Amino acid sequence: HIDTSDLSARNDTAPYLYGLMHEDINHSGDGGIYGELLTNRAFQGSNVVYGTLPEFSGSLIVGSENPIVPWDPVITGWGAIGDGVRLTLDKLHPLSDALTTALQVDIPLNATGEVGIQNFGWWGIDVRPQQYNASFYALQNYPRNPNDTATTFTLSLRSNLTGEVFASTQIPDTHLPYINYTQYSAHLYPNVTAPDSNNTFAITMDGAANAGKTFYFDLVSLFGETFKNRPNGLRKDIAEAFYEMKPTFLRCPGGNNLEGVSPQTRWDWKKTIGPLINRPGRPGDWSYENTLGLGLMEYLEWCEDMEIEPVLAVYSGFSLDVYGQSGPSYPPDQMQEIVDDALNELEFCMGDTSTYWGSLRAQYGHPEPFNIKFVEIGNEDWFSTTYPYRWAAMYNGLKAVYPNITYISTAYNENTLYNISIPAGEMWDTHHYEEPSYFLENFDFYDNWQEATNNTGVGVLLGEYSAIQIDTYSGVVNYSFPADVHIFYPSLVSAIAEGTYALGAERNPNTVKMSSYAPSLQNQNWFNWTPDMITFDANWNHTVRSVSYWQQWLFAHYRGTQTLPVTNTQGDFNPLFWVASIDVPKNQIYLKVINTLNASVPLSVDITTTCSGVNGTMITADSLDAHNTIENPNAVTPKSFTLDANQSGNGTFSWDVPKWSITVLQFDL
Ligand code: AHR
Repeated sequence: HIDTSDLSARNDTAPYLYGLMHEDINHSGDGGIYGELLTNRAFQGSNVVYGTLPEFSGSLIVGSENPIVPWDPVITGWGAIGDGVRLTLDKLHPLSDALTTALQVDIPLNATGEVGIQNFGWWGIDVRPQQYNASFYALQNYPRNPNDTATTFTLSLRSNLTGEVFASTQIPDTHLPYINYTQYSAHLYPNVTAPDSNNTFAITMDGAANAGKTFYFDLVSLFGETFKNRPNGLRKDIAEAFYEMKPTFLRCPGGNNLEGVSPQTRWDWKKTIGPLINRPGRPGDWSYENTLGLGLMEYLEWCEDMEIEPVLAVYSGFSLDVYGQSGPSYPPDQMQEIVDDALNELEFCMGDTSTYWGSLRAQYGHPEPFNIKFVEIGNEDWFSTTYPYRWAAMYNGLKAVYPNITYISTAYNENTLYNISIPAGEMWDTHHYEEPSYFLENFDFYDNWQEATNNTGVGVLLGEYSAIQIDTYSGVVNYSFPADVHIFYPSLVSAIAEGTYALGAERNPNTVKMSSYAPSLQNQNWFNWTPDMITFDANWNHTVRSVSYWQQWLFAHYRGTQTLPVTNTQGDFNPLFWVASIDVPKNQIYLKVINTLNASVPLSVDITTTCSGVNGTMITADSLDAHNTIENPNAVTPKSFTLDANQSGNGTFSWDVPKWSITVLQFDL
């Protein structure tokens, strides 16, 4: 029985369930949602030779490298065009204090035909009819042949297999500088879609006319269309997948990737802002270089463009070690430095233009202050023994200046050595990478959580969760990576388990205020964590929304504004799990129901009001293993259906809930 009459029995739903968690892992930022199409664009320390990636030990998952195109054996992502053309990394002609390595290109004295350089993209480049914005900085040595100072550059997108040119344009008769770099830019417009993504971006010139010259290139960049046309923005197809999920917030920039494998290499927000030539990059926590092109401002603009709230994670004075285990902490007497750094970061985000950092933000293109409502202090700080004093220093220091922000602790009672004292109204971020059975068994975990934690009024951010799946639920699971630990693709059983846990969260809006699946993105060609909500490669047609994505999508689309009491139930939860809510402005009731059983389960519902129709949206499949892949991206997606009149009736209906299904019934009042 869904009771709409007792208004006092309703609770406001939590407005921030089903958000996004994003950090650069699995090449989800560089090589992923960050719209830069070229790899190693500024030679920022990354020179990984094919097949020699370092392996993590400890609890982290071993990386995989499986390029679909051959990489130059010397300089990651780059290759020479033309006989005898030599590419080397150069440190004598830095573009800026931040970008200190350039690509030196020596054209041989006997050059003829086409010579130049090409970039293989992030394991390929998607080519389709749209505008590509190319740019690069270049410099030239004093020419050995004084008559040949002008160079015509040809920029092109071409097949790496056949050499077919899909688009090209010229930067004619350029007299390159000898000392200070000049930036060149051009647009490319292919009028065809390339048959695959095994394409390159080339900068070429006439060999004979440029014989004997030496060029230096840096910050060579190529962007296709970006989400909402933001310059330096997000790859459109991936961002649209996120946007269409109707997320409520973005937690960024980590995750472990915030912390660094040393304090010096942490995600230092100051190095992520302003012109790209000022961003030095960093060795990311996930075994590859971060360009920092996706910086603080880009994250905030991402939120702005998706109309969602940032959950800004600030560095808390603790880093991992190179094995991803607990590393160094700032001592108590140096914590003020870290507090001040976070205060400056918040001033950059929120300060008006009369402030130092606020005026810098304006100078960088965003005079309007952003509004930060949530700040997370660190990441998984239960890893360390030092969080009690670090949390206290950060919380007190930030709260004093920004009292309206909700602060999120990353530890509470997980570390057996201490409990963190989180004040009422603030939050705790908890992470769950578990087997499907865990999520089912813990459906009621938050039911009595407030009482169990002495009613301290702390809220929960379910900041990272997903079924990694080692339960042997239906025979053999064959997607494990590494074997028998993590599955590769989220499957129906993952979505059912995560959805059941999400229902448990929805039932308790007084406790669970926010939630997000993690990790959210995976580049199929290089990843170090499975499973992930969305998988992709260079080909924009290959972006696959997993069953877990669709579960998030479904629940996010039907949130309701208030929970409704479900009373007089015959039978307890399991195998059916449910939660009811009402969207007051839309005048609709939602009944979310999950059937975890391998058989349909009869359901009778009566509602204390008449309804004019019942529609449903369901995710189901014949097998719990069912999952979406690049080859079959729509194997499991939500399907809409309508219950007929005698089922919708006057507020009473019966329905067999199909086996292994996740459904939202929508009652029009
Ligand atoms: O989501 C992957 C990692 O899992 C995150 O970086 C970290 O917070 C957690 O351990």
